[in-house]
Amino acid sequence: MDAHDMGTDLERVLLTSEQIDQRLDAMAAEIDSDYAGRELLLVGVLKGAVMAMADLSRKLHSKVTMDWMAVSSYGSGTKSSGVVRILKDLDTDIHGRDVLIVEDIVDSGLTLSWLLANLRSRGARSVEVAAMLRKPDAAKVEVPVRYVGFDIPNEFVVGYGLDFAEHHRNLPFVGTLAPQAYQ
Ligand code: IMP
Ligand code: MG
Repeated sequence: MDAHDMGTDLERVLLTSEQIDQRLDAMAAEIDSDYAGRELLLVGVLKGAVMAMADLSRKLHSKVTMDWMAVSSYGSGTKSSGVVRILKDLDTDIHGRDVLIVEDIVDSGLTLSWLLANLRSRGARSVEVAAMLRKPDAAKVEVPVRYVGFDIPNEFVVGYGLDFAEHHRNLPFVGTLAPQAYQ
């Protein structure tokens, strides 16, 4: 599958599925070694983190359980405001647990910063973050992301779980959206 599968919406392929797969191998090895002998709770943030969660979790040898949250950021238009509403909360009591939040992308960092504080306040033993993508140039707040897949330029990207108006989540690669697609 390549850029043509997105029709005219795509500008270019930023990360191929092979690159993503290789990077996930390394991230999983690091996580396995950091959490050796501990039971990890993976918390996927819906909907964007579905692909990363599915692929990363299958590469882990550690004992893990999985849960999901859905959050929505209040704000005007497409900009994150940092004020977050929980649409779907965890089913799990995380008190005393080692929690690893799995995210698709850290953009401004506002959503993740709120989520970290929220989960930490529930008495987890530890809360860390694994993010597939990060846009360092877009950061409005410093968020400690323990495991980062790729640092990418400050451009709008889709694929591998990421959407534009709910489209393109199913692409197995990450691509940049052509400006005419969102104008
Ligand atoms: P933040 O609060 O600005 O870090 O926003 C994070 C959320 O915005 C992510 O979990 C994504 O759902 C969405 N997002 C940020 N950048 C992009 C992008 O380039 N493509 C698609 N979604 C994005
Ligand atoms: Mg999103």
